[in-house]
Amino acid sequence: MEKIEKVAREAALRAGELQKSRVGKVKSLDYKSAFNIVTDVDKASEALIIETIKASFPNDAFLAEESGAESGKQESARRWIIDPLDGTTNFAHSYPFFCVSIGVEEKGEMVLGVVYNAIASEIFVASQGQGATLNGEKIAVSNRTTLDTSLLATGFPPDTLKSVHHNMDSFRTITNMCHGVRRDGSAALDLCFVASGRLDGFWERKLAPWDVAAGSLIVREAGGKVTNLEDGPLDMTSGHILATNGKIHEEVVKALALSTAAK
Ligand code: IPD
Ligand code: CA
Ligand code: CA
Repeated sequence: MEKIEKVAREAALRAGELQKSRVGKVKSLDYKSAFNIVTDVDKASEALIIETIKASFPNDAFLAEESGAESGKQESARRWIIDPLDGTTNFAHSYPFFCVSIGVEEKGEMVLGVVYNAIASEIFVASQGQGATLNGEKIAVSNRTTLDTSLLATGFPPDTLKSVHHNMDSFRTITNMCHGVRRDGSAALDLCFVASGRLDGFWERKLAPWDVAAGSLIVREAGGKVTNLEDGPLDMTSGHILATNGKIHEEVVKALALSTAAK
């Protein structure tokens, strides 16, 4: 695990520094669909991350946002799940809240998560059974026990209002039940903020595996709880996720169920 963690950290740091150097200098911006953008920096970051990992682990499998899935050679059961730049819209607008997210899965279980925010010089790391850290210091979820004293975050799919999973009803419902609901545009960082106690909870619908792979392990290793929106097991492919400090989990599940058609 030591070598895997070293390589994951190195890949995240290299891509993060590239992103930092390119804020305000986007060369190309394409649309994957309406309002869903990708820049040359997303692609360059991903190439750098995969090149760094392959130099040490040439047989591993990959699932990466911009290049898709690549199966590994049989002898390796390891898969790297990569969001090279989580928070692309923020990045493209020089809004300083974005990161690199790298998760490592072995035999279907997340074993390592690394999330790097180069602007804040913050690296969140967790390995299975070893706890979670921020810049090398142990982190833990908050101790808040009630929703009405909590701060949460959520997010919306790029096709927000056209989607049945538009999340607006839940946003409205929960906003009226707590200190506030932030929408900061990087699911991986939102999860790390739950892990470090800056937020008490986070939920979102329709995320992709690369948005949540690393962050979900970081929350769990920091003592938090991660499930789907009904308190069942997280399915990274459906991408409906609720992550909390554990203490307010049940209350948030009930609040989500209250919102019309659970949207
Ligand atoms: C997005 C961010 C955002 C979330 C979106 C994601 P991207 O990822 O995580 O917070 O609300 O649903 O697609 O496109 O910036 O990697
Ligand atoms: Ca993402
Ligand atoms: Ca991305």
